[in-house]
Amino acid sequence: MDKKRRPVIAGNWKMYKTTSEARNYAQSLVGLVGEISELDIVVCAPFTSLPVLKEELKDTIVHLGAQNMCWADEGAFTGEISPRMLLDVACTYVIIGHSERREHFRETDEDIARKVKAAIASGLKPILCVGENLSQRQEGKALAVVRAQLQHDLLELAADDLRKITIAYEPIWAIGTGKTASSKDAQEMCAAMRSTLSGISGSIAEKILILYGGSVKPDNIAELMAQPDIDGALVGGASLTAEGFAQLIKNACIA
Ligand code: 13P
Repeated sequence: MDKKRRPVIAGNWKMYKTTSEARNYAQSLVGLVGEISELDIVVCAPFTSLPVLKEELKDTIVHLGAQNMCWADEGAFTGEISPRMLLDVACTYVIIGHSERREHFRETDEDIARKVKAAIASGLKPILCVGENLSQRQEGKALAVVRAQLQHDLLELAADDLRKITIAYEPIWAIGTGKTASSKDAQEMCAAMRSTLSGISGSIAEKILILYGGSVKPDNIAELMAQPDIDGALVGGASLTAEGFAQLIKNACIA
């Protein structure tokens, strides 16, 4: 694999798996991908499974991530989980601003900007999700929407912190629908995003990882990975079995 940036393949389990299911999954995945050194592997699990995964993934090549967090380290925020708590269960990554959080839980760009800043300040690596919906794409507004999200969500960051962020381009119409953006469209968008990032951060943009997400499967990952501005994937449904996710990771390495 010949990539400018070290790729990341991250699984987003969303709201799936009990603690015993998580334990079985982790044991299988580690057995299947233990030899892989070409890229970084991340599993982003529900909060309840993180302590079990901390145990199972200790001293393995699989990194642990959460799917959301609060911007505060502690305080009167009923129902929230803080960056400090995520570090305590060995998370190194955290997904921020997933479209499902923006849509169902009304997270705003302002909330997301605060979370990205707090994640970096605490030493977590944020995976910031951006992406347009179907009508925005059909109206030719996809790039403008994504640009605005990047500009708002990264507003709070110092230039030096920008290099610590990973972006996931996840067109909403491709999530869970089986419709992937074509590798050409995904590449075009990721390249345009990189040029927006270079407007914000100059040459640091060349170091920022941009992942693609939306119906990524074992049979389309290689083509996506072959694109110069796609540095990996954020995978939902196809990360839910250890065998399927391991296959997808192996196919990503072939690209
Ligand atoms: P699917 O891979 O199931 O389309 O989900 C993508 C996603 O939302 C990952 O965060």
